[in-house]
Amino acid sequence: MGRIEMILLSRKDILDLDVGIGKIISLVEAGMAEHGRGRVENPPKPGIHATPNSFIHAMPAYFKDLGIGGMKWVAGYPDNREIGLPQIMGTLILNDMKTGAPLCLMDATWITAVRTAAASAVTAIYCARRNSRVLGVVGAGVQGRYNMMALKEVLPSLAVVKVIDVNRGAAESFRRELGERTGVEITVCEDVESVARGSDIIVTATQRLSEPLIRDEWFGKGCLGLGLEIGRAWDGEALHGADKFVTDDWGQAKYFVAQGAFPFGLPSRHLELGRIVTGQEKGREREEERILAINTGLALADVIVANHVYELAKQRGGHQKLTLLEE
Ligand SMILES: NC(=O)c1ccc[n+]([C@@H]2O[C@H](COP(=O)([O-])OP(=O)(O)OC[C@H]3O[C@@H](n4cnc5c(N)ncnc54)[C@H](O)[C@@H]3O)[C@@H](O)[C@H]2O)c1
Repeated sequence: MGRIEMILLSRKDILDLDVGIGKIISLVEAGMAEHGRGRVENPPKPGIHATPNSFIHAMPAYFKDLGIGGMKWVAGYPDNREIGLPQIMGTLILNDMKTGAPLCLMDATWITAVRTAAASAVTAIYCARRNSRVLGVVGAGVQGRYNMMALKEVLPSLAVVKVIDVNRGAAESFRRELGERTGVEITVCEDVESVARGSDIIVTATQRLSEPLIRDEWFGKGCLGLGLEIGRAWDGEALHGADKFVTDDWGQAKYFVAQGAFPFGLPSRHLELGRIVTGQEKGREREEERILAINTGLALADVIVANHVYELAKQRGGHQKLTLLEE
């Protein structure tokens, strides 16, 4: 019987590899294209729910042509912020697709953060106005921050960011830290209306909400809306009244309806991000179109980024290993 050994990668090991956001965006774009061509097995994520507002999801994906696959096991616990832990935490296992043998176990907290922001950036490449200048961010946490950096990467014309958070301190540190790092002018706003009105792109990245935050009348012509709370932050008129509704996977979006994630239901017409990337469907066609994108988060994005991280880590060597089976 052969020996089975897994590489173990901590968050620090992954960060030391120094994979830039530009590379993550191109990996996620390539992954979405494979999905658009129907070459990825990516079933809707089943979950367990230990508290009323939490989840832990199992997220497998297999790229048929690339021969890579694995699964993320990711938790979302909004109350963790009060005890100094991230809202979103995860681990990911990559497997050898010929034998099924596990190859690598890694932290997936950073991967989740960057691949989600990268999916927003890929959406923006195809669905935002090319000259977008003003970004509104509701929720100055992990996703608010990474979304801003990823959007700036693909839309260098972004020059002004308006931000709000129920925790004023989070919004202030967002302004200080990202203002210095990106050179963008960042203003902390007093209400969501001021963030939303006049923005070319609005990102909502808060938590499981009981009431929507964005009203239809604040969602202006030409705007791209990106809702990360899976349909909870945008009111029914905005969701159903947008000129285009985009999601990363229609099957998973429908699956989430059954879980209560789209309290206003799903629009009857939709576009899929992967099919836009491959040119089978059209993203933005007119300057004044209002496009709302609710990406539900696909395992394929985690797996394609994780595989890149694994290949880099193997080249570098020297990582911890776990022997599962001795020879
Ligand atoms: N779709 C996906 O692929 C995907 C992936 C990761 C995270 N998410 C979702 O993105 C959201 C943000 O995740 P995160 O990791 O950035 O969490 P986080 O805890 O780091 O940040 C959330 C921020 O939102 C703020 N907030 C909460 N309610 C608010 C409100 N009503 N108005 C304004 N601000 C509010 C919090 O104070 C916090 O600063 C969560 O809903 C999470 O489930 C989605």
